[in-house]
Amino acid sequence: MCGIVGYTGSRKVVPVLLEGLRRLEYRGYDSAGIVYQMDGEIVKYRAAGKLANLEKEVDDIIGTDSHTGLGHTRWATHGVPNEDNAHPHSDCTGELVVVHNGIIENYSSLKEELLADGHIFSSETDTEVLAHLIEKYLEKDLVAAVRQALARVEGSYALGVMWAREPDKLIGARNQSPLVMGLGEDACYLASDIPALLPFTREVIFLDDNELVLLEKGSYSIMDIEDGASLEKLPTRIDWNPAMAEKAGYKHFMLKEIYEQPQAIIDTVKGRVFPDTGMIQLPEIGLTDKEVKNIERIALVACGTSWHAALVAKYWIEKWAGIPVDVDIASEFRYRSLLMNERVLTIAISQSGETADTLAGIRRASSLGSRVITICNVVGSTMTREADGVIYTHAGPEISVASPKAFTSQLSALFLLTLYLGQVRGTMDREVRLQLGRALIDIAATIETILPVLQKRIRTMIEDFYTARDFLFVGRGLNFPIALEGALKLKEISYIHAEGYAAGELKHGPIALIDKDMPVLALVPQDAVYQKTVSNVEEIKARQGRILLIGTEGDHHLTTLTDNVLFMPEVLEDLNPLLYTIPAQLLSYEIANRLGCDVDQPRNLAKSVTVE
Ligand code: M6R
Repeated sequence: MCGIVGYTGSRKVVPVLLEGLRRLEYRGYDSAGIVYQMDGEIVKYRAAGKLANLEKEVDDIIGTDSHTGLGHTRWATHGVPNEDNAHPHSDCTGELVVVHNGIIENYSSLKEELLADGHIFSSETDTEVLAHLIEKYLEKDLVAAVRQALARVEGSYALGVMWAREPDKLIGARNQSPLVMGLGEDACYLASDIPALLPFTREVIFLDDNELVLLEKGSYSIMDIEDGASLEKLPTRIDWNPAMAEKAGYKHFMLKEIYEQPQAIIDTVKGRVFPDTGMIQLPEIGLTDKEVKNIERIALVACGTSWHAALVAKYWIEKWAGIPVDVDIASEFRYRSLLMNERVLTIAISQSGETADTLAGIRRASSLGSRVITICNVVGSTMTREADGVIYTHAGPEISVASPKAFTSQLSALFLLTLYLGQVRGTMDREVRLQLGRALIDIAATIETILPVLQKRIRTMIEDFYTARDFLFVGRGLNFPIALEGALKLKEISYIHAEGYAAGELKHGPIALIDKDMPVLALVPQDAVYQKTVSNVEEIKARQGRILLIGTEGDHHLTTLTDNVLFMPEVLEDLNPLLYTIPAQLLSYEIANRLGCDVDQPRNLAKSVTVE
């Protein structure tokens, strides 16, 4: 949520800031702004709406000979998305500027105090309080003033601060919102997330909570905000490249990332499953075999799409590893009474590794004695640094809000984990493990083959459905979470109201919604609950619901229920979720695209939810 970028070095700053913001726009797109130093003064440009509006405004000043500045793309929390509320925010003199991601929880009382001191505010944001608070303490030393101000602040922040009187210097500070610095030749960068840095450098340092960094051209110093103690931190090298975060000819990042799924699955599974022996290797979870055998319960914690992956994993782990699994939405988990001990393994699932609720959830579980691991895509993200073990999904940078490849690579990692638990605990026959491990490897090729054919078929099929105002998705067993995920995808990118249900639940209420105008997409692979799901489809048909089915190739019975059937190749039942989510993703994409929606930047959303 909100993207910050900062630069000081020998390049001209405006293009660097704009390039960084372009690569962070998925974090928020309500407004954007940049600020730079010029002849001892601060020059600021801001615009409401997408970054393109700001780009138009700064078209004439791209070549400005300034070498230090800050940029921001906003996801509004306090104050409507207009130009006045756009960052950067200034103090009363206009010489000090701040960009911020997070929420200053005690901003009202601070604002009252600052107003009483005579400060003049020009926005409704919580962030502007920071600019005036730093001004209040500012005499000669910016670092000292920032530290004094932050000592008074409650809440979360990733900050960039710049002062006209200390040219070529930037300050970054972090508490509970992500901030990373990049190291270049004679240059230092600041960013909310790695993609902003990829065109410039891959040497990065992740800031931790309560840390402040002073950046100067080519040098930096990191310190503890509270006591000012100097800190040594080693850079990490990121192996993503800039091209990975570009559209590569696709109309939208979402479509590109749908097509990248086979590779993401291969990269996640590679080196961890041995197809000849069926052995699974996952040393990165950091548990001894004895500890794995001692696990008494698993708590899976996540939000949104990642939560849906967790729901699938519950079926797998309970079936194959015999361990009871609780699945929690992180925003609930973090506040409810938890029964935890050292034999409960908490697993946080997160693409970004920065989701505020999931992070708070694992901190709570850890404080109650649980061992914590995370399944995460972003190297060096906060969760990966705080967890006791990390299973990385190797999906590459994910830009689209809708998270298609994060989902299938999370499923792959969770399936691997299931096989690993079964292997160590002896709850699975070697032969079964071998068969399932091979099937996991093979699923990537299967998806690769069906993708173009499926997309073509779905593009035609949606002509009958894209104007619907509501949609139901139903499935049973392993496919119930896929129904939830399908509904989430459709509603978030097309704004069509969609709900996912366990097919057996229809009769307990939702069936009342069904009439000739209600499309219902049912997932009906020939699995253990096939007949039950087919019966539910019959019930929908009897009430004239408009049916779409996704089922197994060769299942002719489905064509007697509706003309709208998508056939999928037969794979091992356990792997159906990886396969059946693909048509659901494509259906949402094609409908949203047909409706002319902004697929990659759906309204009100941001990719990485770093505030509560
Ligand atoms: O980065 P995370 O996986 O922790 O993000 C969690 C959710 O915000 C995310 O999965 C969200 O629901 C999807 N991007 C929506 O498609």
